[in-house]
Amino acid sequence: MSQHNPELNHLPQPHPDEALQPDSPDFIETPDVTSVDAGDEKFPVWLYLVCGLALFMAGSSFTGFATFGMLDQGPGGPSLAAGAGAKPPELTPAQKGQKIYGNNCANCHQASGAGQPGSYPPLVGSDVVLGNKDRLAAVMLHGLQGPLDTKAGAFGTMVMPGWASNFTDEQLADLTTYLRTSWGNTANAVTTEEVSTARAKFASKGGAFTQAELLQIAPNGPDPTDKK
Ligand code: HEC
Repeated sequence: MSQHNPELNHLPQPHPDEALQPDSPDFIETPDVTSVDAGDEKFPVWLYLVCGLALFMAGSSFTGFATFGMLDQGPGGPSLAAGAGAKPPELTPAQKGQKIYGNNCANCHQASGAGQPGSYPPLVGSDVVLGNKDRLAAVMLHGLQGPLDTKAGAFGTMVMPGWASNFTDEQLADLTTYLRTSWGNTANAVTTEEVSTARAKFASKGGAFTQAELLQIAPNGPDPTDKK
């Protein structure tokens, strides 16, 4: 970019003085022609000047763009990357959980959490979702197989497999926090530590839980231990 400016600066400089004046001896005799010829010579000179200026401007613009582009991609790159890296942490646990839910759960339980009658139980108002956190973690880690009686009706024609190997404790905390705080659900958040404790507690569990097993972990209804 610094190479362009010297070249362009040299172009305009020789033309105005040198091109117009050295011809004067021959053209003095025929002023009319002189003016025409001089005019003919002037136009290229001005064209050169205009072109030179245009090129200079263009060069400046391009070098300007290039300069800013390089600067943006240099110092700006890391800062943009840092900005992009800074945005995900700005997501709340529930927002991170919402993404996990959308990618893994909504196809059965629906984005609205309403489920599908007879097939997939609703997560809105679900005793399992809103109740004891150990029990909710148990379902999430190891799955659930019917028959299943809920406030929304009977289920059990299908089994939900466990997700223990699919998600980290933090992801499961984000996910279940999302379940407990969405669609009108107003239970408190789930921490990563609570999921870790539950994962260890139910580590020896083989296969999916049944509803009877879940009710042994904790009965339905509000759980005092869940009040943070
Ligand atoms: C393939 C369909 C399917 C997918 C995907 C699925 N589930 Fe389920 N889920 C079910 C079924 C079926 C049941 C009920 C099982 C039964 O009847 O025993 C269930 C039960 C549940 C329950 C217990 C609800 C209650 O009131 O007892 C919760 C909580 C739950 N699922 C959460 C999730 C979450 C969170 C995800 C995403 C990680 C998910 N499910 C993905 C099919 C699915």
